[in-house]
Amino acid sequence: MANEQGTSGMKQPVSRASFGNRIGVIAVAAGSAIGLGNIWKFPYITGENGGAAFIIVYLACITVIGLPVLMSEFIIGRRGQRNVIGSYLSLSTKRSPWAFGGFIALFGSATILSFYAVVAGWSLEYIVKAATNSFAGKSPDEVGAMFGSFMSSPVKPIFWQLVFMSLTAGVICAGVKRGIEAFSKIMMPVLLFIILLLCVRSLTLPGSEAGVAFLFKPDFSKLTAAGVLTALGHAFFTLSIGAGTMITYGSYIKKKDNLGSIAVQVAFADTVIALLAGLAIFPAVFAFGVEPGAGPGLVFVTLPNIFAQMPGGFFFCIIFFILIAVAALTSSISMLEVGVAYVSEDLGIGRTKATLLLTFLISVVGIFCSLSFGPLKEYTFFGKNIFDLADFAVSNISLPFGGLAAVLFVAWSLGKDKVKDELSSGGVFFVNYITLFMFTAKYLTPIGIGIVFLHSLKVF
Ligand code: TRP
Repeated sequence: MANEQGTSGMKQPVSRASFGNRIGVIAVAAGSAIGLGNIWKFPYITGENGGAAFIIVYLACITVIGLPVLMSEFIIGRRGQRNVIGSYLSLSTKRSPWAFGGFIALFGSATILSFYAVVAGWSLEYIVKAATNSFAGKSPDEVGAMFGSFMSSPVKPIFWQLVFMSLTAGVICAGVKRGIEAFSKIMMPVLLFIILLLCVRSLTLPGSEAGVAFLFKPDFSKLTAAGVLTALGHAFFTLSIGAGTMITYGSYIKKKDNLGSIAVQVAFADTVIALLAGLAIFPAVFAFGVEPGAGPGLVFVTLPNIFAQMPGGFFFCIIFFILIAVAALTSSISMLEVGVAYVSEDLGIGRTKATLLLTFLISVVGIFCSLSFGPLKEYTFFGKNIFDLADFAVSNISLPFGGLAAVLFVAWSLGKDKVKDELSSGGVFFVNYITLFMFTAKYLTPIGIGIVFLHSLKVF
């Protein structure tokens, strides 16, 4: 385990905020990583791609691509001691072209938040729907129709999206330590508790074994090339990399903390929660004979149906949607913080003003994303509505590009000596993995990212 000794030569600049203890750092970074990606997206893409074999590929992607990028982002942030763009600049030259990687990341985090808040808003509505017993006595088709009419209506989803954005802004305004860290430290254990409770419920249903087999017994004949690429892309989204979040958070990590071990623990925690989400969902899906490949509606349509037929389902349905909302909130704050740190540090606007300004701009874009399921359905670009276009532009272009910039910068521009100095906190920790890290970051990770990227652009 890391030792907690400080290194005398490395002082934190007095003016910059930092996270408190190690537990705080892990809670905050894992809080960012664990979100809709784990509880909403991971189960449905696993369902669509045949289960266990897909999960094995996903785990490989997390290790070979995700972890090196995550470590690179932490290194840039902590060594640069600035926001996402400032950190690149302070580690190279003024006007360095690497800063472009920072701009891509900034664009990415703001754009993700605009549509992420829409889906998170749906979960708030579903807490209310569950608490008022709205799914009782409805057929699966009726529950599906209910979701369809809710998400396409012009007012309600926007109301909840704005409520969610306000909650995000509230935490950010409270600051790095009293807001982000305090909130994540309380909420992450709550989340773990809720998800374990759901796992127990799901695994004790008669017929749940088929769901466990689906998750853990690989059938490679079900794996497609598209599935492999989906797994690669999801590794970025789920670890919050490629959009400046982990650079910004890295800049708040104290010099004495062991970056390598924090990165491993965050990736591990994120993976465990994704698997637990699978264990909470698939045994129930199979126990009730539901189609596992139901797509994005899996948690909003399929699960309320399952809960409605399950003993104690009323109660479990409410806590399930609370779980989603909480997980989304500890992630959304990490997206907003990227822009707030940049605007407040480099454009000389106070933190509160910066938060309000960005919340306003991102909410406006989000309103268009939300309306693109209803009144603005007709407005499509390249065959995609506004929501899908924002999702595509970020998940398939901006994240891989932002991640590529981070890993290339660390491996080729910063170089082995500085990387070793940073990973060892100035010689305190033993970094026996440095050669492996440099080799992976120089070659394997960029090649892996290149493959995803070319696929997104439909080159393959
Ligand atoms: N990782 C989060 C999730 O799985 C989403 C997220 C937060 C994110 N910050 C990010 C994704 C930055 C990409 C980049 O829900």
